[in-house]
Amino acid sequence: MKYFRNITLLLGFIYVTSATKLKNTYNGRNENRTFPPEFLFGVATSAFQVEGGWNQGGRGWSMWDYEIKTDPGYISDGSKYEVAADSYNQYKRDVGLLKELGVNVYRFSLSWPRILPLGTPDYVNPEGIAYYNKLIDELLANGITPMITIYHWDLPLRLAELGGWLNEDIATWLGDYARVVYQNFGDRVKTWLTINEPFILCSLGYAFGTHAPRVISPGEDFYECGRNVLLAHARMYHIYHDEFKSQGGKVAVIISCDMALPLTDSLDDAEAAEDYFAFTLGQYAHPIFSPQGNYPQRLIDRVSRASSLQGYKQSRLRPFTPEQINYIRGTSDFFGLNSYSSYYVYRNDSLKERFAAPSFEDDMYIGTYTAPEWAIETSSWMYRYAPGLYNLLVYLKKVYNDPVIYITENGSSDKMGFYDEEKIAYYRGYLNAVLDAIDDGVDVRMYTAWSLMDTFEWNHGYSMRMGLYEMDIEDPNRPVFPRKSALVYKEIIRSRVIDPDYNPEPNDL
Ligand code: BGC
Repeated sequence: MKYFRNITLLLGFIYVTSATKLKNTYNGRNENRTFPPEFLFGVATSAFQVEGGWNQGGRGWSMWDYEIKTDPGYISDGSKYEVAADSYNQYKRDVGLLKELGVNVYRFSLSWPRILPLGTPDYVNPEGIAYYNKLIDELLANGITPMITIYHWDLPLRLAELGGWLNEDIATWLGDYARVVYQNFGDRVKTWLTINEPFILCSLGYAFGTHAPRVISPGEDFYECGRNVLLAHARMYHIYHDEFKSQGGKVAVIISCDMALPLTDSLDDAEAAEDYFAFTLGQYAHPIFSPQGNYPQRLIDRVSRASSLQGYKQSRLRPFTPEQINYIRGTSDFFGLNSYSSYYVYRNDSLKERFAAPSFEDDMYIGTYTAPEWAIETSSWMYRYAPGLYNLLVYLKKVYNDPVIYITENGSSDKMGFYDEEKIAYYRGYLNAVLDAIDDGVDVRMYTAWSLMDTFEWNHGYSMRMGLYEMDIEDPNRPVFPRKSALVYKEIIRSRVIDPDYNPEPNDL
């Protein structure tokens, strides 16, 4: 998880010996097992990260345009986002790549300011609608199923100025936008993802201030953002099921979660793992997927206790009303999961007095540790530990009553060039973990690789290359080249087997 890159503590180091003794339920059974015939493979991107065309076709400004354009030092490697992968102009190239890979599904997002330049449906931009119609039609003509994320972080600037995710009206704004989208594309699109990754949206955007709108309020606005995300998601879900049921599609939220493994077998570390899940997963998943709805009790209790010790008259985690609990409960037709990394978590005296101000990290009160061998050379926050995904899938099955799970993002960065061996090891390991989970009865029905081609990685710019296809960002035409991982993924999709010995060369595509 991107946040924990900042708080991984050296202290965990002393526990590494006991950590290695931990149960490792993953067994890497990779001898020619096949993915079930109905299992789907996809790749994903998001509008702001690939479309470019920032001022083409009547697109309005998003809060990301504003943050980048008003602070030239914001993007860590100084790279530009205005053209990105140029998918706005080169969508046919993208569909060609998808066809070459043989994927069943393409998960992409709609740019809200391209469809509604001012955020509200008073003006619907016909060129925005036309662009997505062309993309959807091209996908369908090539036998690829479109799977659309309605909100992947590019909030129209005007709505950000009105308070963005801290204004309860966001539920109305998102619902109205979703209605426009269902009306225009719902005849052909049958799988809708409402909001991408509430925890990352609210922690990076409203706690730590590394993502737009760069608010730093880890103990208050972080929770308020999450609350509004849940209400907005529920509204998008209800509008579909109340007004567009005849379209016959599915609507789900995408929840991000990385695996937490207790560092030792102490009770404190087991509690630390449960609290990690309550804050990063349960805060968003429990209100939707648990039979009783509402936040997890341990989240409610921890924030309320900390708030009262800090002199607050009420909890910094504002409670839902009974009507809101009912409104949110059950509003996802499957579990959309984005997952990348794993952590050992612990709780001991070394954590005391780490935070001066109210903060969700302080409320959660855990330390994290990652094993050196999990490190990924090209990333400061990602860790490769495939058994973590297996354990997470089993955990979700247990805690949320055996949901249908679509893995909507998973992947890693690597260095430039064809031979992206680290990424290939990542994909093979994680796909084996998916097979292990399926063997053990977890209902995983789809795997989506992030990403199709190198994407603009938000505040990291192009310093992290996650594409199956490499893109030349110096060339205005943005040519793309398959990496070895593209060939390996293609072969897995074709054969439905993970062959550890398949070793393609550049001209094998
Ligand atoms: C986001 C993507 C991002 C990816 C890799 C996910 O959290 O949904 O937009 O590119 O992580 O950083």
